Amino acid sequence: MSQIYARHGDIAVITLDNPPVNGMGQQLRTSIAEGLRAAQAEAGVRAVVITGAGNAFSGGADIREFNTPKALAEPTLRGLIDMVEQGSKPVIAAINGTCFGGGLELSLACHYRVARADAQLALPEVKLGLIPGAGGTQRLPRAVGLARAVDMITTGNPVKASELAGTELIDAVLTGDFMASAVSFARNAASAPLRRLRDMPVEPPAADFFANARAAVSKASRGLTAPLRCIDAIEAAATLPFDDGIRREREIFVELIESSESKALRHAFFAERAAAKIPDVPGETPARAIAKVAVVGAGTMGGGITMNFLSAGIPVTLLEAKQDALDRGVAAIRRNYDASMKRGKLTPGKLERAMGLLNPTLSFDDLRDADLVIEAVFEEMGVKEGVFRQLDAVAKPGAILATNTSTLDVDRIAGFTKRPADVVGLHFFSPANVMKLLEVVRGKATSKDVMATVMQLAKKIGKTAVVSGVCDGFIGNRMLERYQRQCFYLLEEGAAPQQVDRALEKFGMAMGLFRVGDLAGNDISWAVRKRRYAENPDVPYSKIADRLCELGRFGQKTGMGWYRYEPGKRDPIPDAEVGKIIADYRGEMGLEPRAIPDEEIVDRCVLALANEGARILEEGIALRASDIDTVYLAGYGFPRSRGGPMFHADTVGLANVVKRMGEFAKNPHGDPAFWEPAPLLARLAREGKTFS
Ligand SMILES: NC(=O)c1ccc[n+]([C@@H]2O[C@H](COP(=O)([O-])OP(=O)(O)OC[C@H]3O[C@@H](n4cnc5c(N)ncnc54)[C@H](O)[C@@H]3O)[C@@H](O)[C@H]2O)c1
Repeated sequence: MSQIYARHGDIAVITLDNPPVNGMGQQLRTSIAEGLRAAQAEAGVRAVVITGAGNAFSGGADIREFNTPKALAEPTLRGLIDMVEQGSKPVIAAINGTCFGGGLELSLACHYRVARADAQLALPEVKLGLIPGAGGTQRLPRAVGLARAVDMITTGNPVKASELAGTELIDAVLTGDFMASAVSFARNAASAPLRRLRDMPVEPPAADFFANARAAVSKASRGLTAPLRCIDAIEAAATLPFDDGIRREREIFVELIESSESKALRHAFFAERAAAKIPDVPGETPARAIAKVAVVGAGTMGGGITMNFLSAGIPVTLLEAKQDALDRGVAAIRRNYDASMKRGKLTPGKLERAMGLLNPTLSFDDLRDADLVIEAVFEEMGVKEGVFRQLDAVAKPGAILATNTSTLDVDRIAGFTKRPADVVGLHFFSPANVMKLLEVVRGKATSKDVMATVMQLAKKIGKTAVVSGVCDGFIGNRMLERYQRQCFYLLEEGAAPQQVDRALEKFGMAMGLFRVGDLAGNDISWAVRKRRYAENPDVPYSKIADRLCELGRFGQKTGMGWYRYEPGKRDPIPDAEVGKIIADYRGEMGLEPRAIPDEEIVDRCVLALANEGARILEEGIALRASDIDTVYLAGYGFPRSRGGPMFHADTVGLANVVKRMGEFAKNPHGDPAFWEPAPLLARLAREGKTFS
């Protein structure tokens, strides 16, 4: 008999038990089927309760089985669902916590559902480019109505059980001893007739319901296929008999599982999980306790970095060089929290609790008890040196000393201390309280337990951490430099900034490069370029961007950059003045502008990323191709539905990538050295292999 089966008198209880979230792996499915058979066979059993061990009912399919034969092995989830629904004894889902995907589909096949008020219910398949494939699209509309079903299925977002009370989805919200209440609910249900959602009608939709739903969903989902296919399946629920609707759902599911969109989204999902693992730092590596954090520098980055820890309940000592800068930094933090509160994302109590954990100071002495110090001062080696020498003098033994530098050599910075093993790069992205990406820069001396500690801490503050080795720009900005160079060349050759941005945004980038520049401040990349010109005078660069900066066109903050801006507005307006600057520059260089197709713009920008990514991978700066993808998805607005630059190159085919790069190299203005394929890329293309 299965270990997950127990008797409470005349009620059988099946407890889904497969940590961490009771994923419906093959073994669990087998045990559930055994439990159901036993309950049917035992004459003394009048009803069955299915619930989950721990804090979850079930998180859905077991992701460890994804893309393996186990996922399809008998009993399948769909088979199990039929078994539950067709049984002659009532089955009650006792939803004790997270109930996602296949977990919710199983619940929908039960004859009754009870839940804890705070249990979260969701059908998140759309986030992987799929539709729910085990009856979810057919039963949910019968349970909660069409409008709510469209919302839940096309967004994949969770809804609390308390909000669903009063619908057919939740027959009762239980308080007190949850299991005792669920068993007593089952006892009452045992003498009531079986209620099957499949036998219930879907409310008749208004004539324009599906047209309106499609219009709203296509606007919100920016060209993705799966959300619209969800609506097709829900429409089948509203217009076809149940079994025909189930067949339609299956057809769509099978179609989507083969789509490049779903493959890319699934890749992105697994890439993020893989990034958390460092091969030579095993999961059991002891981590250092981080109870107190200090941040040095209360500017743009320091303030945002500080907020991450305050919001996670970790006290922060924030150090500045001067009182007025400190006051400005603290005021900016409060202003940001106030704005969140006005948007309803934060309660006044939480705001004050966060601010109460902040400890502003001008004295390095106050950093003595910090477990982690993050430096975010000016991007100049001399300034960093001063700070790290002082930190080395005051920080307690075992404190982790981190730098937020974007481009400087973390090993040199570590060398300013007598404890380089405790030094690491923590490269946050702006705005640091919002952006998910954190590049964890591992110096040559950084110790394994420091790596383990910061990877765990990243998770705690809600960041997606990716490990990078030391090089100029680390993974993300080193690749960005190549992308940026192509964007500037495109201007020289005939494109306008707005055309480049439009093409990149149509491809799916959250924002084109020139809009990003105006937002972040063109002066920041100008400063980096100046350093690079000095270090590598032979690298050819377009000087168009420098021309704009020389005119003070730094972007939104100066009201003009690649675009112009009306006071108080963020919408970029194409500017004839920029057109003239570019045309003059072309004239001076003797360049004849040509019409450039959007496809060429996108390919040049994206393949430039992938080629540099290949070098980064080969040099061991990135641990895996999928880490590079995660950097671009979490930090650079690369479209998730294309899986990241490396996955995109794999999808295009590496031989095709190399061929296309060869075409670009022949362009008289093409900078042939730029398009030299990275050795790894050339080899994989020759061997017909992929990065992944
Ligand atoms: N701005 C970005 O988009 C971004 C993104 C990632 C990383 N970074 C990196 O973060 C760091 C900080 O950048 P920022 O944009 O926040 O700069 P910033 O100019 O806004 O802030 C730097 C702050 O450091 C303070 N400071 C300078 N010297 C100090 C000292 N000795 N002791 C204490 N405080 C001192 C300054 O008063 C200033 O408030 C740089 O290394 C930068 O490369 C910036």
